[in-house]
Amino acid sequence: MSEAPRVDGARLWESLQQYGQIGATPDGGVTRPIFSVAEREARALLIADCRALGLRVRVDAAANVVASRPGAEPALPAILIGSHLDSVLDGGRYDGAFGVLCALEALRTLLQHDITTRHTVRLISFTGEEATPYGTSTFGSRAVTARLTNVAANRLPDGRTVRDALAACGGNWDRIAAAPGELGPVACFLEAHIEQGRRLEEAGQALAVVSAVCGIYRQHVEFVGEAGHAGTVAMGERRDALRAAARFVLAVAALPDTVAAADPAATATVGFLEVAPNSPNVIPGMVTAVTDLRAGDPTILSALVAGAVSAAEDAGAREGVRVSVGTVLDQAPVVFDARLRSALGAAVREVGGDGRELPSGAGHDAVHLSAVAPAGMLFVRCAGGVSHNSGESMTPEDAALAADALLRAVLALDR
Ligand code: GLV
Ligand code: MN
Ligand code: MN
Repeated sequence: MSEAPRVDGARLWESLQQYGQIGATPDGGVTRPIFSVAEREARALLIADCRALGLRVRVDAAANVVASRPGAEPALPAILIGSHLDSVLDGGRYDGAFGVLCALEALRTLLQHDITTRHTVRLISFTGEEATPYGTSTFGSRAVTARLTNVAANRLPDGRTVRDALAACGGNWDRIAAAPGELGPVACFLEAHIEQGRRLEEAGQALAVVSAVCGIYRQHVEFVGEAGHAGTVAMGERRDALRAAARFVLAVAALPDTVAAADPAATATVGFLEVAPNSPNVIPGMVTAVTDLRAGDPTILSALVAGAVSAAEDAGAREGVRVSVGTVLDQAPVVFDARLRSALGAAVREVGGDGRELPSGAGHDAVHLSAVAPAGMLFVRCAGGVSHNSGESMTPEDAALAADALLRAVLALDR
């Protein structure tokens, strides 16, 4: 594909910085959670950018933004490219937005060079890829693959229901079951993303092809003790829910050691805790925790899940606290399509990389798309592997190489 045009790296970089101003935090990152004001502003800018290019733009029932450039053969399924514009709280400006803006740059380049593809090429910016306190991740990509459970009545941190917040972004919960049909036939899905690890940096490579994504399991754990006066209830007579949760958090963190021989990349995290009543002079009566357990192998993931359940029961028993554990997310590991991996590897080599493959410890929208069509991902180097942190950083040169490789892969798959 040596005839493929190069993307405009300066234009891509300018877009990345422009979107990075939306929901900007003082230290250079962004806070752009699902359905927030900032996330709405980012999606409005994307819609305006796509319309300015003359693309056909629509917002589906899940509020995913979809922008299409029709191909010469309308009967062919569409080639989908994209990622997400939402971020974690105090996150970085590249996780997700990079993949959306890479896709936008690929489309801009096709238009600028007047290249007509056979397949329709469709940019998709998925709603709410990141985790919410009520446990859902990948809202939009689950919706288009019929994998979204009923979260309509769940409340966002600002008190609105998902149903209402979705409607404010142009979606419609009552039509959510129609989202897969609205997407239409898909030839393949390609997602570019920062690596969120240090392996590329250490190897001196800008790009890699993602081979697989680990399995992710999340539990909602409730510790129910008894609230009481911090000065008058004797230490030995307490049923302190936070003491139980503290034991639990440490026990969960130790779980990966138990499987390290089989999977050194397995992880276990408690990143969400809610303490009630959360008052300095009241013994905590109730704590809600959410676990996040990850492993590349389903058997190892099951061992982590079972370990977390017994850690919760043990912590509750030691502190005289009632415990309940429920599943909020159960996502199997995924190996990406061999043909797409090979097309992406060839594209990476064309732009000077060695075409290596790496597995992902982060979840991605491409995981769900892989259930309905061949899906593939490109990783691009990010400084120090820093991610889910305002310090996320990458170079304009690497960004342009990734967009070049993405465009080449699209053109190769269009043949
Ligand atoms: C997404 O960022 C995830 O891996 O949770
Ligand atoms: Mn992401
Ligand atoms: Mn993320």
